[in-house]
Amino acid sequence: MEKKVAIFRKEHFNAAHRLFVHGWTDEQNLEQFGKCSNPHFHGHNYELVVKVTGIPDPVTGYVINLSTLSSIIQKHVLARFDHKNLNLDTKEFASLNPTAENIVYVIYEILRKELDASLDLSVRLYETERNFVEYPA
Ligand code: NI
Repeated sequence: MEKKVAIFRKEHFNAAHRLFVHGWTDEQNLEQFGKCSNPHFHGHNYELVVKVTGIPDPVTGYVINLSTLSSIIQKHVLARFDHKNLNLDTKEFASLNPTAENIVYVIYEILRKELDASLDLSVRLYETERNFVEYPA
């Protein structure tokens, strides 16, 4: 009987952002987003947990080679977002509010394209130790 196994790869990146809604006043944005609406940006140490689920290959015993998975995350996610200002330096968040919710969704869509369709994918993103999101929900 073939059973699925989930494997996890944890990565890390630093990025700056500002949360705000175009057309709102600074006061309205501050009211909604608090310190994350600081007009001069601020940084977070994001922890990224990528979960891949599948049936281990009968020959290698791997769901996916973790070295391969790490390289995919490095090339397609970390190289794009690490040490960047998400609002100013990335096309993904030029007009999309870089909330943890939107970031995790964008990262999922990037990684989904790079993984075999037979593998299930789930992404968890920690903006702080206590605040984190996961997609798909
Ligand atoms: Ni923030």
